[in-house]
Amino acid sequence: MVDDITLPIDDVFGHLHTLRDFIRWGASRMNEAGLYFGHGTADAIDEAAALVLHSLHLPPDLSAEFFPANLTPDEKHTVLHLLERRIRERKPAAYLTHRAWFMGLPFYVDERVLIPRSPLAELIETHFEPWLSNNGAVESILDLCAGSGCIGIACAYAFPNAQVDLVDISTAALEVARRNIEEHGLEERVNAIESDLFAELDGCRYDLIVSNPPYVSTAELQRLPAEYHHEPAIGLEAGEDGLDVILKILHQALAHLSDDGLLVVEVGNAQHALSDAFPEVPFVWPELERGGEGVFLLTARQLQAVHHRFDPYENADTVGSG
Ligand SMILES: C[S@@+](CC[C@H](N)C(=O)[O-])C[C@H]1O[C@@H](n2cnc3c(N)ncnc32)[C@H](O)[C@@H]1O
Repeated sequence: MVDDITLPIDDVFGHLHTLRDFIRWGASRMNEAGLYFGHGTADAIDEAAALVLHSLHLPPDLSAEFFPANLTPDEKHTVLHLLERRIRERKPAAYLTHRAWFMGLPFYVDERVLIPRSPLAELIETHFEPWLSNNGAVESILDLCAGSGCIGIACAYAFPNAQVDLVDISTAALEVARRNIEEHGLEERVNAIESDLFAELDGCRYDLIVSNPPYVSTAELQRLPAEYHHEPAIGLEAGEDGLDVILKILHQALAHLSDDGLLVVEVGNAQHALSDAFPEVPFVWPELERGGEGVFLLTARQLQAVHHRFDPYENADTVGSG
């Protein structure tokens, strides 16, 4: 937290009038303070707009025709206070508004869960085609390392015939996931389970396993901007090379995939460490049109053929120890 930053609120109060004024001014102050963006918004304008619109109880996609509208003095105070908190506390906007968007769907978030931003949204939207050709046949889906539940809940919308399990090791994260299941009215089809990866899923098999596990190396985590340090470390950190959790998933997933099942895992920039360590594994790395990198797909059959390669990593902490 940067305690010595205070915004010249009294000085600007009489000079800022419209919604557009506050978004522009807020964005300028955020850039001036060197904030980091990337937790659901692309830049300072986006971030300031999220905060200003939220403070005014307006939707995030408000039509531009309202931007010249004036704010009342009370509204100005509320907006300025929130912009100041964003700058002083270095908390991403979603933790201040408790709202994040994933695949166009709203999710409740707080500091018990990572802020949804996975590039997997793009693949869910297109039903993982062409890798899942008969998506009407998908009856069971697992969102492993579910956090807020955004991925599994988005899958429940995309695959209306499927039952979805959300698994996380964190009791606190699952409280948030359950709240989101309820807010989306999906209690009948989506179930939250506390488990260390597959430990509590004995005998369960899924047509689709999707995961955005922790994959940041310990050294990299230290270098990340302050905004990331508001997120739960257990959602990010994954050992010396970022592969700790991924390798366990690769070892354990086969026993939980149906014969025609598909495993999809976001590994971010751990992609390079993974493909260097396992050149013989036929990972498919789809090109993501909206950016982001490091998502692999493997069918159950592909995994079957190379499964033995992951045996040493059942309990291992790093590639080197395997
Ligand atoms: C990168 S976050 C992803 C959250 C969510 N899927 C998203 O995309 O926003 C990873 C999540 O994995 C959970 N996690 C870490 N280790 C785990 C384990 N061994 N078993 C299950 N969940 C785990 C963390 O609690 C965290 O919620």
